[in-house]
Amino acid sequence: MTPIDLRSDTVTRPSAAMRRAMAEAEVGDDVLDGDPTTRCLEERVAELLGQEDALFFPSGTQANQTGIALHTRPGTELVLEANAHLVHYEIAGVAAIAGVQIRPVPTPDGVLTGDLVRGVLRPVSPHVPRTSAVAVENTHNAAGGKVMRPEVMAGVVTAAAQAGLPVHLDGARLWNAAAALGLPPARLTTGAATVMVAFSKGLGCPVGSCLAFRKELRSRAWEIRKRLGGGMRQSGILAAAALYALAHNLTRITEDHENARLLAERLSDCPTVRPSVPETNIVMIDLVREQDSSDMVIAKLAQAGVLVVPFGPRRLRAVTHLDVSRQDVERAAEIVATVLR
Ligand SMILES: Cc1ncc(COP(=O)(O)O)c(C=O)c1O
Repeated sequence: MTPIDLRSDTVTRPSAAMRRAMAEAEVGDDVLDGDPTTRCLEERVAELLGQEDALFFPSGTQANQTGIALHTRPGTELVLEANAHLVHYEIAGVAAIAGVQIRPVPTPDGVLTGDLVRGVLRPVSPHVPRTSAVAVENTHNAAGGKVMRPEVMAGVVTAAAQAGLPVHLDGARLWNAAAALGLPPARLTTGAATVMVAFSKGLGCPVGSCLAFRKELRSRAWEIRKRLGGGMRQSGILAAAALYALAHNLTRITEDHENARLLAERLSDCPTVRPSVPETNIVMIDLVREQDSSDMVIAKLAQAGVLVVPFGPRRLRAVTHLDVSRQDVERAAEIVATVLR
């Protein structure tokens, strides 16, 4: 039997219709003189995010790194939430690429606030690094898909602006945040100098991200992307998948949220696990019994047909997505209950 794959919302396979859109895409050489489908995607994304322009990237990591490199200079400090993707999962990229030091801000729930930002800004002094930018993540992956509300974002933007700092928004799952709040994505980007969004997560694309920004940042962003090896030639084949996803898969994201809630509800009947209350498509599952380690339980679940990833010694992460149904989620909850009886 095919396992129910809840490891990530990146495991989706492009549908037949998405593959058709890719096959039929009009393409050019995007590095040489432009690719029409890629340009169409960039304009669509800029519009959706309420930004002036956007650039297509092979990955969210490269788009994040470009955003940070745009705003900072070596030897300065980047303020961000302590468990951000940029801190843990980009191989110290901001240190290696932009030459900046991370200033991690611990929070109870993954949500950076204006007051927390103010609290870590250092007075200018010849003895301490200058802060050059602030980064936020919405939704916050390690905090279980936690949504940053527009008023909280506004607080961060104000605190940053008062200190003359730009804000980068890692919106790999901004689509989920917008769907959870019932707001257009552009409502969640106000005041951000750069916004990264991904197509390879909740939207079901094989690859791809965009970085959106003011028009004047385009040429510098282009150079940084090129330096990082992110210039792609007939990228319209990939951009077509993203355009297809924005047209067909964006509005169904709430189904993933319903499935995550259902999974958490069903798991809450099982005394050996403590599921989080998901706001979007991520459920964190804490193992209650001391003898249950993440690695051991993951191996047993895999044998029984459910795939999840570890997120701590006794914490698992399950993510709902386009390729898992309500029935899959119900079955997954039954399997967890049986394995951890
Ligand atoms: C919050 C967040 N930011 C950035 C990324 C990086 O995206 P990519 O895997 O496309 O490099 C991810 C990937 O899972 C993510 O969850």
